[in-house]
Amino acid sequence: MDRLPSYSSQRGSQTGLFLKLKPTWLALLSSYFFFLFCFYSISNFFIPLLHPTPSDLFLESPPSELLRHPSPTTPRLIQTLHTNASPSLNSVASEEAVGEALKSQRTTGERESEKKDVYHERDMFMEDYEEMKRSFKIYVYPHSKDDAFANVLLPANEEPGGNYASESYFKKALMNSQFITPDPANADLFFMPFSIASLRHDRRVGVGGIKGFVRDYIREISHKYPYWNRSDGADHFYVACHSVGRTAMEKAPQVKFNAIQVVCSSSYFLTGYIAHKDTCLPQIWPRQGNPPNLASSDRKKLAFFAGGMNSRERKQLVRTWGNDSEIFAHAGRLKTPYADELLGSKFCLHAKGYEVNTARIGDSIYYGCVPVVVADYYDLPFADVLNWNSFSVVVNAIDIPLLKKVLKDISTEEYQKLHNNVLKVRKHFKWHSSPVDFDAFYMVMYELWLRRSSIKFSLL
Ligand SMILES: *[C@@H]1O[C@H](CO)[C@@H](O)[C@H](O)[C@H]1NC(C)=O
Ligand SMILES: *[C@@H]1O[C@H](CO)[C@@H](O)[C@H](O)[C@H]1NC(C)=O
Repeated sequence: MDRLPSYSSQRGSQTGLFLKLKPTWLALLSSYFFFLFCFYSISNFFIPLLHPTPSDLFLESPPSELLRHPSPTTPRLIQTLHTNASPSLNSVASEEAVGEALKSQRTTGERESEKKDVYHERDMFMEDYEEMKRSFKIYVYPHSKDDAFANVLLPANEEPGGNYASESYFKKALMNSQFITPDPANADLFFMPFSIASLRHDRRVGVGGIKGFVRDYIREISHKYPYWNRSDGADHFYVACHSVGRTAMEKAPQVKFNAIQVVCSSSYFLTGYIAHKDTCLPQIWPRQGNPPNLASSDRKKLAFFAGGMNSRERKQLVRTWGNDSEIFAHAGRLKTPYADELLGSKFCLHAKGYEVNTARIGDSIYYGCVPVVVADYYDLPFADVLNWNSFSVVVNAIDIPLLKKVLKDISTEEYQKLHNNVLKVRKHFKWHSSPVDFDAFYMVMYELWLRRSSIKFSLL
């Protein structure tokens, strides 16, 4: 008998409490929305200033969303969308326009590819590039040979090699370049020279210790120097080619969200990669000199792929085309020399593995084979500058069964044009220890230049 009244009184008091709380909740809710609104407007206001996106700089260039997200649509569609989009943006909007574009893609695509340049905006790029060479300055956090982690922080003496060579080449080339300034007051950007690939091999750190190392590194530079704090890292950058880089920043969220990440695994599907802020480091297997034969007429095979079966895309590729007489898709290592296949095929397939990136795009370009990119969400190297439709074929993974049709639909003239353009962009996919104009190093620098902060906070 006692329980019932106490229960109901409790209940009553709960209701009372609820009623009493209601206005507070409303107030909390509305301030929450107000905060969201403010945050949204502020972030919209600052992001373009802190990291000018290519579309801000290239006002006349095609809409950058289309350039930066090539994978979900087939390249022809992108080509025609660009054609429609260039003069005015509103023509893209209607679905009818897209339908029409699809219908006429064949002819428009052909006509377009004839006058397609390898650059989106050649004159603007050349002018801007010269300006970058004249004025861009980088401050590198200084470390000496006596530093306990000199092996991780200083450039390697030997010629970089292997799959992740891009990371060491970048550092080596930067230190040998005119971009270095000893005076932080003149710097546009600050380079944090830790190497993810070397940390991985350092027994004191290893894969498991990388996150802690990066956190401590940021703590150290932000205490010792005033530069990190004034922008919260927005004018700082690092480079990483190994895929462990994707989790390396988990204990240093400011690096992930503010700093510029120059990484090989540049997939805008990854939460740690922010496409307008970060940029792609092309993964390139280093090769000296030029290969023997690049003529397109001697390429008898339609397409070629070989590699480990470590993704759904690759498995589907081999399942679909494994026995085909024209598309050569091979699981695992080849018995014949890899170079012969790249020189003997018209198209070379870059199919995503664990990550969107592999050295295959660089390999095909080096051997004059037109790359076919099957890696959805890959923020392709130098996509702000290079017109990938002019020298490659980008295919959505769901279109793997249509691969043969897509490739056979490309006429001999069109193929010739793609092939010639591959040879034109080769210089952009090559590293040198001492940088050479327009090589991979200068192109990455250009991407950084596009992302340099335009706000400078003055020090006291
Ligand atoms: C930067 O900010 C951190 C955290 O607020 C602080 O501990 C540190 O002393 C600051 N660095 C400088 C150089 O003032
Ligand atoms: C290729 O052909 C062989 C022999 O006819 C067959 O056993 C195999 O399953 C086929 N593979 C594919 C991927 O179709």
